[in-house]
Amino acid sequence: DWTMENFIDEQVRRIREQVGGKKVLCALSGGVDSSVAAVLVHRAIGDQLTCIFVDHGLLRKGEAESVMKTFREQFHMNVIKVDAKERFLTKLKGVADPEQKRKIIGNEFIYVFDDEAAKLEGIEFLVQGTLYTDIIESGTATAQTIKSHHNVGGLPEDMKFELIEPLNALFKDEVRALGTQLGIPDEIVWRQPFPGPGLGIRVLGEVTEEKLEIVRESDAILREEVKKAGLDREIWQYFTVLPDIRSVGVMGDARTYDYTVAIRAVTSIDGMTADWARVPWDVLERISTRIVNEVPHVNRVVYDITSKPPATIEWE
Ligand code: XMP
Repeated sequence: DWTMENFIDEQVRRIREQVGGKKVLCALSGGVDSSVAAVLVHRAIGDQLTCIFVDHGLLRKGEAESVMKTFREQFHMNVIKVDAKERFLTKLKGVADPEQKRKIIGNEFIYVFDDEAAKLEGIEFLVQGTLYTDIIESGTATAQTIKSHHNVGGLPEDMKFELIEPLNALFKDEVRALGTQLGIPDEIVWRQPFPGPGLGIRVLGEVTEEKLEIVRESDAILREEVKKAGLDREIWQYFTVLPDIRSVGVMGDARTYDYTVAIRAVTSIDGMTADWARVPWDVLERISTRIVNEVPHVNRVVYDITSKPPATIEWE
């Protein structure tokens, strides 16, 4: 009969059978799917698995550190961390168009991964955290065609690896249950959706280090306060956005001319439609006060009260 334990045993057996004594590669993003897939494969074949984690500099505050800590220290997995911040920022210089930014980030991710993979010898398999729903959705005209999401089929076509896709019969809630059963921390198992292009599409217009810093810091405050208020599982996705505008403010005796930060928080089932979250005003007030006080160059905070449709969840 179907239990999570039986499922794990069965997958472990199948992965061992498929891989034999060969070597396996995995692109770890810190997201639920790739994390669960990697840990499952690691349970089956241990050190025959090598993971590559590309830090493109567009991650949230503390994210790269926490991913490395979990997989290296808790699971003792081989993880190669590639610090590619400069590479991505250089490529993004002067680019303001959202779709172009997505394309650049997606392509660069593949080049970096490719470069690292080429340094390793004898790899014959690639782990992918493809879910049952990914397979269905990529075959139809969904959000894919509206925004070029790059996380499905986003790896180089000329890579001659055989795929290992241990989650391809599972739905998201089953993947979370599996992750918990495998001992993966809640922080990863219940992580809110995070787009592949990361903060690169939350800094509207041209991406600069200064602007990334504002989004990263304000987002960290938002996440901390949402968690403190016990709303982190209730709100489907929540983050800050940096529109490309400045406005006048006053601080002490002085007039300021600084950035506006927008807060986006939505409830949703699958991201296809969404409603703006009715976050209590006192929580919003704490977030706003902290952002203006703690994040340099911000003098105004606004709350996005549009649903999807007609707006999208992300601003780009
Ligand atoms: P939108 O903004 O289209 O977002 O309402 C729906 C969901 O998709 C995520 N999203 C992306 N995920 N690459 C991704 O991997 C992308 O380019 C991308 N754009 C949007 C978004 O965060 C939300 O969860």
